[in-house]
Amino acid sequence: MHRDSFRAPGQWLQQLRQVLDQMAAEGLSPAALMMDGLFSSDGVFSPPEAEIQQAVNWVRQAGGVYIADEVQSGFARTGDEFWGFSRYQVVPDMVTLGKPMGNGHPVAGLVARSGLLDLFGERQRYFNTFGGNPVSCCAAAAVLDVIETEQLQVNARIQGQHLGRQLHELAQRHEVMGDIRGAGLFFGVELVEDRDSLAPATELASCVVNGMREAGVLISATGPDANVLKIRPPLVFTAEHVELLSDTLDRVLTQLS
Ligand SMILES: Cc1ncc(COP(=O)(O)O)c(C=O)c1O
Repeated sequence: MHRDSFRAPGQWLQQLRQVLDQMAAEGLSPAALMMDGLFSSDGVFSPPEAEIQQAVNWVRQAGGVYIADEVQSGFARTGDEFWGFSRYQVVPDMVTLGKPMGNGHPVAGLVARSGLLDLFGERQRYFNTFGGNPVSCCAAAAVLDVIETEQLQVNARIQGQHLGRQLHELAQRHEVMGDIRGAGLFFGVELVEDRDSLAPATELASCVVNGMREAGVLISATGPDANVLKIRPPLVFTAEHVELLSDTLDRVLTQLS
């Protein structure tokens, strides 16, 4: 995607169409479209369901597969669904899993339709030094158990709604807060120079991230201009933690703006 793909509605889709047309004109077909359903590193976006479906249809028509990258959006993060791709009502051909899968332990996985992998197995010699090791598999299985027994998907939904309300409330008092978007316990809060121009407040975002860190709350910044606060708390977040986060953000923004 281009740097500004999500600035205007549907722009990313137009860019995808152009790329596919250009490839077709050169006699090329795409191997795959790989999407993080929350576009976490692009500034936290959730395009409309119909746009995601259109993109996947185009890529499949051109001969490619759809790979859902669940490294950021999977494992109950979005509250309403266990997987990020489920929010768009389209079934991927492959799914990549990582980070939250082991809750800190390094483990990753790939899920695919067998028809796709059979060919790979027939044509390719594949080995992997640590693949399938029992310790990592135990860690990953324990994570699934904890998500289920502690009802962390429900928690992501409830505390996500709580945090969303707090962020919108803060935005009434802090003009630097522009768009607030996200799903479940994953928010992107755009910081802007002013709400008319929406010019990115990149330096402020960096100061806010560091100010929060000094106050003991870890967040990050994302997007092409690094002006979108990326707020992705642990799924075990409680109402008390939500208050702590929003009070600290309030204090840091007041000090800096
Ligand atoms: C959406 C997404 N996919 C993949 C990765 C890469 O994951 P890893 O560092 O486990 O290879 C990241 C890293 O943060 C990511 O954000």
